[in-house]
Amino acid sequence: MEVIIEPTAKEVGIMGANIITEHILRKPALVLGLATGSTPLITYNELVRKHQDGGLDFSKVVTFNLDEYLGLPPTHPQSYAHFMNENLFDHINIDRQNIHVPSGLALDPHGYCESYEEDIKRSGGIDLQLLGIGRDGHIGFNEPGSSLGSRTRVKTLTRETVQDNATFFRNESEVPRFAITMGAGTITQARRILLLASGASKAEAVAATVEGPVSASVTASVLQLHPDVILIADEEAASKLERRAYYRWIQENKSQVNGVISRQIRERLGM
Ligand code: PGA
Repeated sequence: MEVIIEPTAKEVGIMGANIITEHILRKPALVLGLATGSTPLITYNELVRKHQDGGLDFSKVVTFNLDEYLGLPPTHPQSYAHFMNENLFDHINIDRQNIHVPSGLALDPHGYCESYEEDIKRSGGIDLQLLGIGRDGHIGFNEPGSSLGSRTRVKTLTRETVQDNATFFRNESEVPRFAITMGAGTITQARRILLLASGASKAEAVAATVEGPVSASVTASVLQLHPDVILIADEEAASKLERRAYYRWIQENKSQVNGVISRQIRERLGM
């Protein structure tokens, strides 16, 4: 896992947007996995700005969102479909047919989850998956204890998640108890993963994800098995990483590594 530590959430969000932009410029028909929550908001604002001011073109980009509450229509203000429209899709030139957010109204949710997996496969697979992380180390709605090989499915939310979400609804009885979420196994099939984390409340989850054992108790820890993960954390979220100094050292030396290797090769070849 490549660990990049930035001063604040703002730099984390902007760097996330820059990485997504580089991918779109290299591959205009990028298959992009997206996340909701407060963490990616700065990234989405920056992508909107790059589209409006710099003409960043989303017309061929295909998106797949991680999750959605079961039972909420896309027009519900707390639905993730609504969140994505408000914060990204309504402000860029994406083709609506290329947007995939799991449907909270699927009549046959289990069959629907299989068809969501099929849609990802048919698109050629996710090139770049954006992720936030929960305080308990979850990714998507893969609550602690989720199988690390799990696929898109209906997940029962923990009592804590339901209680945390109650503030967004009129009362707790209105909070959805279930969600459709890509599984940990679905997520780790993405070719590249971009995990963003900011704030002190994420410090323990980040440390467990990067330096703890791979465990279903911290579903993000499955990312240790993936060959191409970039974690961008702000100082607060990185504060409990024991190898912080080494991760910084790697970044400081990164720009030199190609030069050093090519010099060594030239020397060996006597050039
Ligand atoms: P947050 O949520 O970005 O709102 O902190 C992240 C998550 O729970 O996955």
